[in-house]
Amino acid sequence: MEIRFEQTKTPKAKPTDETKLGFGHIFTDHMFAMNYDAGQGWHDARIIPYGEISLSPAAMCLHYGQEIFEGLKAYRTADGTVQLFRPDENYKRMNTSAERMVIPQIDEEFMVEATKKLVEIEKDWVPHTDGASLYIRPFIFATDPFVGVKPADHYLFLIILSPSGPYYSTGLDPVKIYVEQKYVRAVRGGTGFAKTAANYAISLKGQDEAHEQDYEQVLWLDGVEQKYIEEVGSMNIFFVIDGEVITPELTGSVLPGITRKSALEVCKSKGIKATERRITIQEVADAYDAGKLDEVFGTGTAAVISPVGHLKWGDKVMTINDNKIGPISQMLYDTMTGIQWGKIEDTFGWTVKI
Ligand code: COI
Repeated sequence: MEIRFEQTKTPKAKPTDETKLGFGHIFTDHMFAMNYDAGQGWHDARIIPYGEISLSPAAMCLHYGQEIFEGLKAYRTADGTVQLFRPDENYKRMNTSAERMVIPQIDEEFMVEATKKLVEIEKDWVPHTDGASLYIRPFIFATDPFVGVKPADHYLFLIILSPSGPYYSTGLDPVKIYVEQKYVRAVRGGTGFAKTAANYAISLKGQDEAHEQDYEQVLWLDGVEQKYIEEVGSMNIFFVIDGEVITPELTGSVLPGITRKSALEVCKSKGIKATERRITIQEVADAYDAGKLDEVFGTGTAAVISPVGHLKWGDKVMTINDNKIGPISQMLYDTMTGIQWGKIEDTFGWTVKI
């Protein structure tokens, strides 16, 4: 499929202070768009000026939430080139999410090419500052004007770009996490593994209550017994217990994170024992009491590698590694960001040059 290009006539001023970008506030001059109509498939791929879209008030996405999205980044390397990190994995996961949400499949290779083309056009928006990158947000939603519950016949696929700094305002300083015991994020047979808006909407209440107690994020437990650890919502979670790296296995209610998968591969390449298995919050608390909970950290495209300094489970507050980043978290942060920003050799073949 050809990608039509319509250049903006009103380019915006680029941010001057890249240390104050924050996350997800600023959007570039252009966006990718493509339509799907039943009987015709995906068509009319185009890169057009970034701007408002017109949507029927009856658009199905607004009523029943038939939407999926992805998150990846473009990084500027020291020699000025721009690269993506495992974009094929994002579009593969997007098709898994699409299947669950009854959204039509996309051509993964075409979408990698379309993303490269959009980033190429917007390459001057890729930040030059250490730790900042161009966040890429592909998403698909149902547009049929109809208020009955059924899979839609018409969809819009957009990609918007946002020059961004760290996801957490604390940067690489450890985050405070609250173990949620009242609400749940996902249940067996639900949509936990899919990157769909509803999973994030459902997390807001818990997050809001955690904020009231001065905790930044919520750690979700399984939806049946609230015993097994799942994920944080904005990131997957890892524990280092007695030198072993452990992350909850993908049982269907946990997002299959690309940074999660990469972190496991990096650990294994360095000879660090890294295990995917079910782990209870009780096991974590027991390890803490025994002085064996060495490190806790989250992984995500937006979150990168985020050390966790405090974990609150009921009345128990665990302070991890003296509220400092631990050696495995630091190694993973250095390796992942080193590969992403082209500072160390990508022996895994994960980066894709624009
Ligand atoms: C990402 O890490 O890209 C995500 O989509 C998580 C989101 C909460 C920012």
